[in-house]
Amino acid sequence: MCGIVGYVGREACADILVDALRKLEYRGYDSAGIAVFEDDKIKTVKAKGKIDEGLAVKLDEGDTLQATCGIGHTRWATHGEPSDVNSHPIGNGRVSIVHNGIIENYRELKSFLISKGYGFESETDTETVAKLLDYYYEGDPIEAIEKALGDIEGAYALGIVFREHKNKIFAVRKDSPLIVGKGEAASYIASDVTAILEHTRDYYFLERGEIAILSEKGIRFTDIHGLEIEKELQTATWDVTAAQKGGYEHFMLKEIHEQPEAVRNTVSPRVKDGLPNFEECGLTAEKIRNYRNIYIVGCGSAMHSGMVGKYLIEDLAQTPVIVDIASEFRYRNPLVTENDLVVIISQSGETADTLEALKLSRKKGADTLAVVNVVGSSIAREADMVIYTNAGPEISVCSTKAYAVQVAFMYLFAFAVAYAHGKIDEAECKRLTAGLLAIPEKIQLCLDDMSNYQYVASKLINADSLLYIGRGLDNALSMEGSLKLKEISYIHSEAYAAGELKHGTISLIDDGMPVIVAATQSKLFDKTISNVREVKSRGAKVVIICRESVNIDKDCADYKVGLPDAEDLFLPLLSVVTMQLIAYYTAVQRGCDVDKPRNLAKSVTVE
Ligand code: G6P
Repeated sequence: MCGIVGYVGREACADILVDALRKLEYRGYDSAGIAVFEDDKIKTVKAKGKIDEGLAVKLDEGDTLQATCGIGHTRWATHGEPSDVNSHPIGNGRVSIVHNGIIENYRELKSFLISKGYGFESETDTETVAKLLDYYYEGDPIEAIEKALGDIEGAYALGIVFREHKNKIFAVRKDSPLIVGKGEAASYIASDVTAILEHTRDYYFLERGEIAILSEKGIRFTDIHGLEIEKELQTATWDVTAAQKGGYEHFMLKEIHEQPEAVRNTVSPRVKDGLPNFEECGLTAEKIRNYRNIYIVGCGSAMHSGMVGKYLIEDLAQTPVIVDIASEFRYRNPLVTENDLVVIISQSGETADTLEALKLSRKKGADTLAVVNVVGSSIAREADMVIYTNAGPEISVCSTKAYAVQVAFMYLFAFAVAYAHGKIDEAECKRLTAGLLAIPEKIQLCLDDMSNYQYVASKLINADSLLYIGRGLDNALSMEGSLKLKEISYIHSEAYAAGELKHGTISLIDDGMPVIVAATQSKLFDKTISNVREVKSRGAKVVIICRESVNIDKDCADYKVGLPDAEDLFLPLLSVVTMQLIAYYTAVQRGCDVDKPRNLAKSVTVE
């Protein structure tokens, strides 16, 4: 969701900025632009639409830009439709800015600025910040920034250029992420490190209340009043190939194939002497024993991984788990107390609602554990304890490997909670942990032959609507399977607890409607098959996901997707891979933009 980049150095920067913006395309956007210093002026080029159809075309058609300093932006529309004029950078020739986030009091700021004689071209909240900076600017950029930020309410990351301060970029942030990259003879700003990995792995996190000043001489940091501050340089562990397609047709397919390694990288470092171990973040068995309730909060796929966690923890540890959607949790005055643990799950670590849910939990005195993928992200920094899921960068908007590692963590966490509460003994905990460690090889088996997924997908591509059903853990997994399919193939899909179907939803079943059934849990198998027969007898085309070794009657299901043999408990970690691939091939066969589905953003940094 919105991407910021900036470059100061010795090279012509237009292409560098556009390339960096391409690396941020995965965040979701609907227009893009750059502003560069050209002949003592700020020259802006921006366009609605994808970079290659808008901004890059305009740049090719215009004069060659010689500029060596500039800022760039991909915008995901919130205030005002996607259009050239609403695109960033936004400014008036004296000041130009790129902005991520939302300015909550932009209406009041706009009235104030209109009363001071300013006119407005765009419908954006961002324009009020550009004009406010211009209003306060009397020669000292830091002073103008300090005054403008004093008036602004909301979340922001800003890259700012002032015409009178040629080849300098000023950067500030509050709640929206921004990093500052340090290269050989160049400096960068970016919403995340993947945008600049090609140039450098060395970067600084910009904190709230800090201003970065990038120039040809290097990078300086000051506080909001202009006092110099020292900051620690970080080095990204992700390398540039991790953020490239590596021969796969789509990032989604690459990331699905990276799951065995991702799960291994998440689980192995947290196993000591054969048992789960979270000492790295201070989560001890004693702490776990003392929590009254466990809350798990997130959005989208992250919340779905929490649903799996609930089934696992309640079953194995007999401890109550409340799973909530972050946007609901934060506004419903949840009953969280200082005796509770709130597990906050997020791939990006920047999702606005999830971040607010974390802050609320802390305010209520609960212990917070962040399970995040992006190192140093806002959620990681705000939480009391952090577990990094080590999946590497996930570029495809549709989450796959990040979800798999969140679920893998849930397994390990459930074993730890069950062991801490004495619900399983050491031998059983070791046996379960060993079982989890063996799962990457079984995921690999699911990835070795794609033909069945392609075949099943070919039977779904003409559907208007379909259902995912399952019971228990299969129900939790089906939520994710259904989300994958609808978000990238645009076929309407719902996940339903199989036993709940007959309370209304079964009336949707008519001739040929596909129903995807997950049936991996032996103790619920017969019950699920009864539900399958109910939908089948009403005309549904049934796809069943179950162990390869289970025989399914032809009159019960039309297609079977077989899973390698594994203990029941672990089969959901395999069935999700098959669901991801069915969704992937359905979207590919329907000609959809798999990695960048319409209207979606990878990182939702506004409510
Ligand atoms: C967006 C993404 C989803 C993701 C959700 C939560 O909607 O498209 O794939 O599950 O945000 O993101 P997070 O980074 O907090 O896991």
